[in-house]
Amino acid sequence: MSQQYHYDILIIGAGAAGLTLALELAKTHKVAMLTKGDIREGSTLYAQGGVAAVLAEKDTIDSHIRDTVTAGVFLGDPDAIRFTVENSKESIDWLIDQGVPFTRSHEGDSYHLTKEGGHSHRRIIHAADATGQAISATLIHNATQHPNIDFFPDRVAIDIITSDKLRVSGDNRALGIYALNLTTDEVDVFIAGRIAIAAGGASKVYLYTSNPDTASGDGIAMAWRAGCRVANLEFNQFHPTCLYDAKAKTFLISEAVRGEGGKLLLPDGSPFMSKFDDREELAPRDIVARAIDHEMKRLGVDHVLLDISHKSTEFITTHFPTIYEQCLKYGYDMTKEPIPVVPAAHYTCGGVMVNQFGHTDLKHLYAVGETSYTGLHGANRLASNSLLECIVYARSAAQHMLSNPVLPKPLVEIPAWDDSQVTDSDEDVVIAHNWQELRQFMWDYVGIVRTNNRLLRAKHRVDLLLSEIDEFYSNYKISSDLIELRNLANVADLIIQSAMKRKESRGLHFTLDYPDTNEKPEPTILAPNKK
Ligand code: FAD
Ligand code: SIN
Repeated sequence: MSQQYHYDILIIGAGAAGLTLALELAKTHKVAMLTKGDIREGSTLYAQGGVAAVLAEKDTIDSHIRDTVTAGVFLGDPDAIRFTVENSKESIDWLIDQGVPFTRSHEGDSYHLTKEGGHSHRRIIHAADATGQAISATLIHNATQHPNIDFFPDRVAIDIITSDKLRVSGDNRALGIYALNLTTDEVDVFIAGRIAIAAGGASKVYLYTSNPDTASGDGIAMAWRAGCRVANLEFNQFHPTCLYDAKAKTFLISEAVRGEGGKLLLPDGSPFMSKFDDREELAPRDIVARAIDHEMKRLGVDHVLLDISHKSTEFITTHFPTIYEQCLKYGYDMTKEPIPVVPAAHYTCGGVMVNQFGHTDLKHLYAVGETSYTGLHGANRLASNSLLECIVYARSAAQHMLSNPVLPKPLVEIPAWDDSQVTDSDEDVVIAHNWQELRQFMWDYVGIVRTNNRLLRAKHRVDLLLSEIDEFYSNYKISSDLIELRNLANVADLIIQSAMKRKESRGLHFTLDYPDTNEKPEPTILAPNKK
């Protein structure tokens, strides 16, 4: 039996962004939190390096701003960058108040700060090499104890219900969502005065990714279909170092390993980063990933090596206990030998356009965290600025919602999901095939190095897939695989369109047809066709 729920606030996603928002709002509002599967699953859980913030005595706000601008190749929005960095210390204090057990310095009177690529200071606060796990566990603990927060796991949000779709007069606004209940197989309706999408990124659009399965771009696709603009989706970040092992399913090797002295080596043991950038292993990620890609293609090899074995066993096992254990599980002892690494899709720099309060183009709809485009990252995200953005913008969105009255019950009847015209699919193989094909051509044609021809090929293929998926969607009963495929294809199309619009190489978007960088940096903004 399909259910209908009413809440003040509805949040899609329980990562760092969604949980922060929920905890800030629950003081005064009833909040529903939906997650696709288990409430812990999402990129936040796997974050390793830490959270960037101006905490060290000799560090300054201007220095963090400069590093963010430089990593983003001057495309970042100056106001968004300043706003984020200025709120960094306060956000860390908020996490500490919540109880996040960050690693202390040797002296014990302050926190240990590590270094990552593109940062000119030690400014990454962390919980050993499992920062996301510490943040996620702490915030989930607090949220599940809170009487005003209800969790709904195993609910896959399908689409935003808008007043325009229901032909209600007045400004178009978000009223609720439809969500597939994986336990009952029914589509439930959630109605709320404010809706926030905190559904994470879209790196699963690529065949190889450091991200968990939740990162299928659902939030971006839903917001786009609801009429919101998206920006800078051509900038998908590839993390330079994921463990290369068939069984490891792209396990990330934190940039902090390079921050603490790890060297990248060719298979013959020779270092190569100095050929590409003076900052060597600590150049921003786009440069390091492209250098590795270049060397792998030049030599015809399927991985390079990362070596930190010159550090003591005690240092390695204290700083990187999770990475050490995982590598050992796959047969690599990083205290004694280099480990094999490759780049993989890691982070969606673009997303749903929002203002400083996380508000989208659609009234009552917010987007926070990796789903959103705040303007912070420009053409390439500076390491560990993502969790920071989640906390800063979720808190700002909460402030905005708290200062605007909430109407939980719209004066309109929201219809139940109508599946009277569809049948059960007997063609699941088509979904599985299209899923694989999409992720493969995105990897091959829209990856680290692009060309006009490759993008055109990808565009033809995605158009074909989109029309097949539309047909499926209209004729067959909804399933989580179909929802995911539809969202992946929607976002892939937006990534390709954005990449085709950018006639230059900048940061993460590198094309052999336009190798130069334009003088004037401009974001790529796509707007849905309004009917
Ligand atoms: P997520 O944490 O990804 O959460 C998404 C939520 O949305 C999940 O609860 C999911 O179930 C839910 N969801 C998705 N779709 C739906 C749907 N249709 N219906 C219902 N629910 C849905 N960043 C840093 O700053 N520092 C780091 O050290 C760092 N390390 C990283 C290491 C790894 C391996 C990875 C993958 C990322 C790392 N990042 C790091 C990036 C950072 O972790 C993410 O950008 C950030 O955690 C995103 O948080 P979020 O709240 O936006 O989304
Ligand atoms: C890492 O630990 O290398 C990931 C950091 C990040 O993605 O910001």
